[in-house]
Amino acid sequence: MKRGTEKGEISYKCWNIRDYSKNKHRKVDDYPYGGGAGMVMTVDPIVSCYNHIKEAVFKKPKVIYLTPKGEKFTNEMAVELSKEDDLVLLCGHYEGIDQRAIDMIVDKEVSIGDYVLTGGELPALVLIDSISRHVKGVLGDDDSLDEESFSDGLLEYPHYTRPAEYEGLKVPEVLLSGNHKHINEYRKTESLKLTLERRPDILDISKLSKEDIKILEK
Ligand code: ADE
Repeated sequence: MKRGTEKGEISYKCWNIRDYSKNKHRKVDDYPYGGGAGMVMTVDPIVSCYNHIKEAVFKKPKVIYLTPKGEKFTNEMAVELSKEDDLVLLCGHYEGIDQRAIDMIVDKEVSIGDYVLTGGELPALVLIDSISRHVKGVLGDDDSLDEESFSDGLLEYPHYTRPAEYEGLKVPEVLLSGNHKHINEYRKTESLKLTLERRPDILDISKLSKEDIKILEK
């Protein structure tokens, strides 16, 4: 990310919604209409902040609201969002934000997983990191954008590097063999087994070859 920033490929800026409150205590939340627990972020500071941001960019930025109610964030979504010139990541707090702010400015609601955090800041950082990887100039020559774990729908095989033996634990022999056909078969087998064990939900049987099915049946 530092590399991408220094090269001018990506940049970030933070805006504090409190700076857009018209209240002398910089208040940005209020009790929910209809009652119930918790506070709701008010519409005006959010929309005022957004209007300010909009003046600083060339065309309308895509606005993403981080919320556990949103569409689940995926690698595919990161690739799509990396094509946008500007993104605004709106972080909620408390019970949420006034629905009118969502209706007025939000393009997409995104969740980073089925758990509830105290605010959208950490999810925003997750998106920034994951999206930035897909922007040219962010990853270095030794980094890999080769996303085995997701691009072929399987979890990635295990990795090893030197030494070939550590405290009696050996690197699988096949990886030292130099036989790329065998290495690829080993890796495919490990990926298939791991996906079946940990993430059967993403294993798309219809996309597997006869050989793959045989491996899984073993
Ligand atoms: N805000 C609170 N929890 C969240 C989550 N899981 N994803 C996105 N935003 C959130």
